[in-house]
Amino acid sequence: MQTVTNIEALRANIRQWRQERQSVAFVPTMGNLHAGHIKLVTTAKQQADKVVVSIFVNPTQFGPNEDFASYPRTEQQDQAKLIECDTDLLFLPSAKEMYPQPIQTSISVGGLSTLHCGASRPGHFDGVALVVCKLLNILQPDLLLLGEKDFQQLAVIRRMVADLNIPVAIQGVATVRETDGLAMSSRNGYLSAAQRRLAPRLYQSLCAARDTILAGKDDYQAVEDQQRQLLQQAGFAVDYFNVCRSDDLLPANPNDHTLVILLAARLGTTRLIDNVYFCKQTPDRTGFLPIKENA
Ligand code: PAF
Repeated sequence: MQTVTNIEALRANIRQWRQERQSVAFVPTMGNLHAGHIKLVTTAKQQADKVVVSIFVNPTQFGPNEDFASYPRTEQQDQAKLIECDTDLLFLPSAKEMYPQPIQTSISVGGLSTLHCGASRPGHFDGVALVVCKLLNILQPDLLLLGEKDFQQLAVIRRMVADLNIPVAIQGVATVRETDGLAMSSRNGYLSAAQRRLAPRLYQSLCAARDTILAGKDDYQAVEDQQRQLLQQAGFAVDYFNVCRSDDLLPANPNDHTLVILLAARLGTTRLIDNVYFCKQTPDRTGFLPIKENA
């Protein structure tokens, strides 16, 4: 695996591959790689001739009181993991390389960025959209892979790519979970032993809500309230627990078929997010089959 830190060297490599008619897949990350990231890379390897991974802890997506300074930076371990899964190139830019001058351009994906995590982390998705747009312009890959664990991020990037006619295909990759169901996340490392034991309840509550809806309950507000209350009683500070339509992430109503339940909650100072994505069975015998959460 080659590691490059500047944009020109990265582009030279990609130019060379293009001349050889090789396709390129891209996995953007902020490092501290876990099995979820590795699945993105191994999926990318199946789809393209060459795989580029970036590691860049992007300052523009962190709010002033968030964990930018303490975000885990584990470059050496990350590099070893990427070599192991046969990554072709690691792009490891500095902040100066990505933002050589104070940036004056902003990218904001309208309504989508203001819901759910966007409401509690104002500006977060603008920072994500900005850096992903820059990276896509720098690399010009054929395929971009993102984890479904960050379901709203995936929706924001899909919308940005569609709105700006960015010529890249996007593939969402199913969430990778620990054996007890906790979604893999770089922030799991912040949890104390007691918090770590409690954390799988998030996924359990999502599954319970999904199963209640699949069993026919169509008062989604009541489903949300019940699970929110149970999580709060267990010691979580629930930011949101929202039953949404999976395409635009607006509140779902009983006629919607493809749903996602989005959840964010804090354990102490650690904020965790998770979701379940599923289809409801249609009563009209169209052959539309329900899909259980695809983790
Ligand atoms: O999901 C992440 O790790 C980040 O938000 C991303 C997409 C790499 C942009 O900084």
